[in-house]
Amino acid sequence: MGQMQFFQACKTKNHLIYGSAFIDAEGDLDGRMKIKRLPAAFYNLIIGVSSNILTIGFILFFMPHTELLLGTGNRIVAMLIGPASMVLFTVFLVLIKQHLESKTALLRSEEKYRRLVETTKTGCVIIDAMGRVVDANTEYIRLTGHQMLEDLLGRSLTEWTAPHDRERMALEIQHCIKQGSVRGIEINYNSPSGALTPIEMNATLLSDSENSHILSLCWDISDRKKMESKITQAQKMDSIGILAGCITHDFNNLLMAIQGRLSLLAFEMAKEKNLSDYQEKIKKADTYLVRAADLTANLLGFARKGKIEVIPTDVNQLVSQHAQMFSRTRKEIAITQELSKDRLVAEIDRRQIEQVLLNIYVNAAQAMPYGGHLHVRTIEISLSDSDVLPSNASPGVYVKISITDTGTGMDKEVQTRIFEPFFTTKEMGCGTGLGLASAFGIIQNHNGFISFESEIKKGTTFHVFLPASRKTPKEEIPAAEKIVISTGTILLVDDEAMVAEVGAEILNALGYEALVALSGQEALDIYEINQDKIDLVILDMIMPGIRGDEMFDRLRQINPKVKVLLSSGYSIEGQASAIMAKGCNGFIQKPYSMAALSQKISELLEAHKVTS
Ligand SMILES: Nc1ncnc2c1ncn2[C@@H]1O[C@H](COP(=O)(O)OP(=O)(O)O)[C@@H](O)[C@H]1O
Ligand SMILES: [Mg+2]
Repeated sequence: MGQMQFFQACKTKNHLIYGSAFIDAEGDLDGRMKIKRLPAAFYNLIIGVSSNILTIGFILFFMPHTELLLGTGNRIVAMLIGPASMVLFTVFLVLIKQHLESKTALLRSEEKYRRLVETTKTGCVIIDAMGRVVDANTEYIRLTGHQMLEDLLGRSLTEWTAPHDRERMALEIQHCIKQGSVRGIEINYNSPSGALTPIEMNATLLSDSENSHILSLCWDISDRKKMESKITQAQKMDSIGILAGCITHDFNNLLMAIQGRLSLLAFEMAKEKNLSDYQEKIKKADTYLVRAADLTANLLGFARKGKIEVIPTDVNQLVSQHAQMFSRTRKEIAITQELSKDRLVAEIDRRQIEQVLLNIYVNAAQAMPYGGHLHVRTIEISLSDSDVLPSNASPGVYVKISITDTGTGMDKEVQTRIFEPFFTTKEMGCGTGLGLASAFGIIQNHNGFISFESEIKKGTTFHVFLPASRKTPKEEIPAAEKIVISTGTILLVDDEAMVAEVGAEILNALGYEALVALSGQEALDIYEINQDKIDLVILDMIMPGIRGDEMFDRLRQINPKVKVLLSSGYSIEGQASAIMAKGCNGFIQKPYSMAALSQKISELLEAHKVTS
């Protein structure tokens, strides 16, 4: 139980003085009297009722807010005023000490909450109905870009709200006052230095009889916003990627058919004399085809498709062969190489990495229209977590290919956009804007990444990082454009009638008997009946109905020794590699030339070769 304290007060000239005496828990009186002056408000109150005291005797007051008047943390709960003999009246002030204790407890719990509020990563601010700051925690002060609470006190929230959000902010304060709360408001704060911080805020109305205040909780949502924009960008890329993949598939089939027809024509005409003029025209058409095929290859790269034949490859060898080939086409550019003495191996789709190098070389050459110097370096490098941070790659050992040109360089604006698909600074017909987008996609698909440095009028360096491999590299014999004629029976499976038709004619021209199936089921039926006769199945991977890998399994069920050459314009992610892993004999990417097909077939059949 709390202690009670009695006061006796008496009136002097203009104020009340009072003395106090304790009665402790045992009921003993503590007689030390202290004379103190009561605050003026008491004086006024007591004088106000004093005239009645003489007539009605004692008056009892209950005093709810006296701790403020006393300023001691003590509270007078009741006041008994009555007449006294010596003076005009006597006042007994009754104070219960328990209130002091509960007040301390309250202060302690308030302190606890303040600490909690100070440690949280949530910004807390209390504003009045006009939007002016009454109180705020450290996190809130940080969010606004200020240093101290004093910087904010009495100022309106809108002062650090970004100009384009101010009107909305004022409206939200009004809504909160009307509805009692608002939630999930996203606005931007503008720090004194001009930096923008995106904020999410909830607010609740705190109102008592006299004042309304608003308590608002705020969070810094910069990271979330960044993530959202990354996801949107990634989704955009994905959908363009899917689109690119679909176009490429159809486009490749068309190219395949055109190329097939041209090859046949050239092949037939080679037997005749005096047709060199026509052959020249066909050759021209063929160069256009190569360009079209290049475009689809870039689309494939960008769509992150087509990485099918991943082979441990000697990177130095690949880089040097490729640089030599490129230097033959650009006499005005001097190419120098600085290749690592150690053997560098990476598991790559050779054709795709050549495409990446070509895209970078072509850009470099275009940036040096009056000639210049191209320097290629290779090195093995160990990358830590922080080195790979800007990309999504994992830390580890990488093969790094750096290509430096002495060209125009790029300004900052161009630098931020070069990997965007269809971004080009080149004139119509000179650039597709797919070169670097494709390079980026291909390298990412190989679990590597690309970085670059560029300085205007000085030049640019691109660095291609590919995960290093400890496997022994496989030699690639460069395919010569030789047409290999042979004999045998081949089942050609392709759902595109136009491709199947020209394919069958090419096979015939190459000396093979060709059976054609336009669907998976048809192929299985034909194979079942003719398996003894069929030496090889050429299987297009993307066919409606039966999936490529299932098709391969079913062919194997019929004959475990079946020889299959997979052909595709692009891969449904993983399917081609899955079929290859199952033991498929070979792969050829569409569109392919007659020579390439003839070589691949003869390689698989190990038939005796007759060179045309
Ligand atoms: N080596 C380079 N020097 C200067 N600018 C370059 C270089 N490589 C790329 N760029 C810039 O990047 C842009 C995009 O390149 P890319 O994706 O290959 O498309 P394209 O070559 O079709 O324009 C180019 O248009 C050019 O502005
Ligand atoms: Mg380019």
